[in-house]
Amino acid sequence: MLGALAGLGVLLALSSPVLRRRAPYVWWGMCGYPAGAVRVMWTWRRLADLQGLSVAKRPPLALLGGVVLKGRALKPVKPRMGLPRWKRGGLVVRVRLHPGQIPEAYAVAGEAMAHAWRVFAVRVASDSRGFVVLTATAWDPLASPSLPLVRPGPLLSASVGQWEDGRAWVVNLRRVPHWLIVGATRSGKSTLMASLVSQWAPQRVALVGIDLKGGMELSLFGARLSALATSRHEAAELLGRLVEITTARMERCRAAGVRSVWELPGKARPVPVVVLVDEVAELYLMASSADKAEVAQVSTALLRLAQLGAALGVHLVVAGQRVGSDLGPGVTALRAQLAGRVCHRVMDKGTAEMALGDLDPGAVTAAQEITADQPGVAVAFGDDGGWMRARSLLTTPGQARRVAERHAALAPSFAELGSAS
Ligand SMILES: Nc1ncnc2c1ncn2[C@@H]1O[C@H](COP(=O)(O)OP(=O)(O)OP(=O)(O)O)[C@@H](O)[C@H]1O
Ligand SMILES: [Mg+2]
Repeated sequence: MLGALAGLGVLLALSSPVLRRRAPYVWWGMCGYPAGAVRVMWTWRRLADLQGLSVAKRPPLALLGGVVLKGRALKPVKPRMGLPRWKRGGLVVRVRLHPGQIPEAYAVAGEAMAHAWRVFAVRVASDSRGFVVLTATAWDPLASPSLPLVRPGPLLSASVGQWEDGRAWVVNLRRVPHWLIVGATRSGKSTLMASLVSQWAPQRVALVGIDLKGGMELSLFGARLSALATSRHEAAELLGRLVEITTARMERCRAAGVRSVWELPGKARPVPVVVLVDEVAELYLMASSADKAEVAQVSTALLRLAQLGAALGVHLVVAGQRVGSDLGPGVTALRAQLAGRVCHRVMDKGTAEMALGDLDPGAVTAAQEITADQPGVAVAFGDDGGWMRARSLLTTPGQARRVAERHAALAPSFAELGSAS
């Protein structure tokens, strides 16, 4: 019996590197997880001591006769940890906080835990008062994402990639109506947009593009777009017409006594419009004072669409390298209206903060850790309001063009947008 067990152990040890390469999840279940769980328990005391998570039961001050003695107690007590539980490609362990401790103290120690446990990352969350949940991910699942198969989703939802935990990353405009996509150059903004458009192209949705980089990115989808503006002048005109359409929809809802187009009966419901803006900064840059009026016009129209659009089936997806107030007050106001956030690799902390900071500081740190060799990797907010790393599906220009051509007949004309479906 013992001999058989020893044989099995040797066999596992020998086949482990091959298994790890070929079938990482099987390897994790058979070898990685048991070894990882032992390592977690083995190193916990030392980790907790070194990271200041252990707390001495005795107070740091003592009275000896009439003299007050100061010092550290000899035996700090480590926080109580449950058994590490298996998770696909990782493990989860629950820890009870000492009185007076907060989850942030554990978040700071996350990197040290990742090193000690030889895993890719350790995330810290708190599911109930007095406890933290440490989730270790064995390797970066986004390095080579294997996309789960998803069935076509409901109207205005797009399955654009994969979350770090393996689930499909779905952007749904019915849940979060407007999105801001931020990232440095070649970080994957346009690719994510292409992925979104490819998913919305087969749906009964009007797609409108504003691409001031000469239309290089969005013209790939030209056949499926109801309109494409490639200069600020065209953009101002296009946005003006969209505001008119939105206002007309508002009137119609008021006449029908409903508060959104989605409450209108099927036949009276107008087709949803998605306005895609690639490189938003170009809309706000002023070369001369003559541009001022046009910038103001564009800025007001975008803001109006963002404020009114959600209930009236008009959605914004705005991408840009920078979205700072240096571009003008209009950008800050617009940013506040775009609740959905995706932050790719950024050049500075300020940009990540602008994209994510007002929602969660932990997300800013994660965005700053994205490196140049990970295009398409981003920190994004899910429907539940929590953030996670995700990677978009690579959509090549050829694929984009083919999708657009295949569904060109579905592109409604501008005149149809004002009327019912
Ligand atoms: N999800 C992805 N998976 C793999 N590679 C990707 C992904 N997204 C982008 N890339 C690679 O990164 C390159 C740059 O991506 P993209 O053009 O989308 O960047 P960008 O942020 O729009 O840059 P720019 O600001 O210069 O327009 C792409 O050509 C592609 O090779
Ligand atoms: Mg781009």
